[in-house]
Amino acid sequence: MTEITYGPGHFDGPDELPADYKNALLELLTFQADSEFMGGMRVQENLRFAPRPMEALRLAKKVKEEFGHGVYLWTLLDDLGLDTNKRVQAILQDPQADSPGNTKIINAFKYKNWSKVFTCWEDVAIFSLVVTPGAVAFLGQYKDSSYTPWASVSDRIFKEELGHLSFGEWAAKRVIEFDGEEGRAKLQKSVEKFLPIGLGFYGRDSKDSENFKLYHRFGLKPKQPEELKVVYLSIVKDRLAKVGLIYPENIQADYEMNIQ
Ligand SMILES: [Fe+2]
Repeated sequence: MTEITYGPGHFDGPDELPADYKNALLELLTFQADSEFMGGMRVQENLRFAPRPMEALRLAKKVKEEFGHGVYLWTLLDDLGLDTNKRVQAILQDPQADSPGNTKIINAFKYKNWSKVFTCWEDVAIFSLVVTPGAVAFLGQYKDSSYTPWASVSDRIFKEELGHLSFGEWAAKRVIEFDGEEGRAKLQKSVEKFLPIGLGFYGRDSKDSENFKLYHRFGLKPKQPEELKVVYLSIVKDRLAKVGLIYPENIQADYEMNIQ
């Protein structure tokens, strides 16, 4: 028996989706939508570390765009019959809970994890330089989703995530410009702290995950984790070199902070 596979853009809307495909779609879409919005809440908390007005303004733009990513994806979930008002209210009213109102939040964006790893502005800059490339690689694949509405939204999200990567490069360069070698040393320490999260973002090897095999067949995760790793490493190494930071070898991925 051959297993069903769906290619890019196979379904153009919410009507008449096969039940097992719809379940998988809802699972992945709610995870991304809820986590994007919670990501905005988390970045908002980091505003307190901004050292200068321009840093505060540029980080605030990132907050708005992360809220936007949540909202664009929730719009798709409205069309699939979910009550997204409940989801946004739960997150806004209880942002320190692990999964407010049974929303689906990636581990890295849960308050108990996030609040432990961020201690200074250098962490904020390096998160966008070392973890955001994981999002760029991982979310970039959704442009080829078998669900066309998701592919369209992903195009916009991808462009804004690239902007967040540029924010990280700008913020890190400014740390060195204003704080010199002391600033560079702090940034380098942050690289070592955040690299395991970035490396874990796109998931375990495809052979290790049953969920992945199903999502891949359905065209909901079009790329293999191994392919995403190549993209991730090339972005991170390029950006670190541009800032004058070193890529530390022998750092292991932290899959527990990963998307799922
Ligand atoms: Fe985002």
